[in-house]
Amino acid sequence: MKAQKVSLGTMDWETFQKLDSRQKAGSFNINGRPYHVLVAQQFGRKFLEELGDLATFIRKIAKTKAGMDFLQKQLSHKAAMLYFSQPSTRTFLSFHSACQILGMHTVEVRDTSTSSEVKGETQEDSVRTFSSFADAIIMRSAIGGLAEKMAWVLSNTDRPVPIINAGSGKDQHPTQALLDIYTLRRSFEKRGGIDRKKIVFVGDLARGRTVRSLAYLLTNYDGVKQYFIAPPQLQIGKDIQDILVQAGVDFELGSDLGRHVAEADAVYMTRIQDEWDEKKGESQKIDNAKYYFTADHLRRLPAHSVIMHPLPRRLEIDIAVDRDPRAVYWRQVRNGMWIRVALLAFIFGCENSILKNSPKAGS
Ligand code: NCD
Repeated sequence: MKAQKVSLGTMDWETFQKLDSRQKAGSFNINGRPYHVLVAQQFGRKFLEELGDLATFIRKIAKTKAGMDFLQKQLSHKAAMLYFSQPSTRTFLSFHSACQILGMHTVEVRDTSTSSEVKGETQEDSVRTFSSFADAIIMRSAIGGLAEKMAWVLSNTDRPVPIINAGSGKDQHPTQALLDIYTLRRSFEKRGGIDRKKIVFVGDLARGRTVRSLAYLLTNYDGVKQYFIAPPQLQIGKDIQDILVQAGVDFELGSDLGRHVAEADAVYMTRIQDEWDEKKGESQKIDNAKYYFTADHLRRLPAHSVIMHPLPRRLEIDIAVDRDPRAVYWRQVRNGMWIRVALLAFIFGCENSILKNSPKAGS
């Protein structure tokens, strides 16, 4: 069924909120390019490819001083607000660096105990305030769906600015999924791309927002098989399973990584997200060791495969695995910065200027 076209600013929040993510997604894009970046459902394959190609082009130009100076002029008239009310190392630094590469100014609130939220100001009013100082708001919050709500709030003001979801509760982390797709594409460049690959997700798949976003983005590729290996109580949500069923995706639920490692093209490890435990310490009762990537798994993993992790990791991947060329999680971190540079370029419409006017790229 073709999704009915909806517009963010013309519906009341209660009605909008109840729509299916795919129905909402169209209203986050303007003329085929992202305006807000809120959910993985707003991206199709064509855009994923254009975004990745632009990221690769930009990282080449950035190798020379002339190239970097050129990039820094692109958005030197724009400012971004980094509103991170939940802990972050990589995503924060990655967005911060991406802004700097394009010359954007940044302002930040990371600790809401130093903001007027302490005085009881609502997040809605905080975000409206940020929109007075910034041309985009990049936000991470422990509250699922808050970024969407804020996009709706701003759409109904006279100063709407793009909202970029840098991780919202247990639901979505769309920009991590974009960098994961970019990493998979680069890894399988000489093996026919992402189509028909077998991707094995391992760990806390119920509360891991990166997996939830990536599982959706993978539906843009043909014949990808997804395996979800998790303790039964932390298995991937029914909502994502329903999306996969509707998209005709072949997937399997399980609890034994050993059964799939020899056929995996990518193993995507995650940590147990115990900060979400309803009863403190309940995750500790789970036999986590079953969801660790061991030396035996490494021996049985095919030579062309990759091991991914959104990081931070705990014990689920031994540090010794880092030395193996199939371990690409540190590459994911680097890819994240470039994909976010490309994303900002698309949001602010300077991608064509970059593609056409840039000085000669470095090799
Ligand atoms: C992830 C997150 O915040 O969801 N980290 C990240 O952004 N790379 C994964 C996690 O915290 O486990």
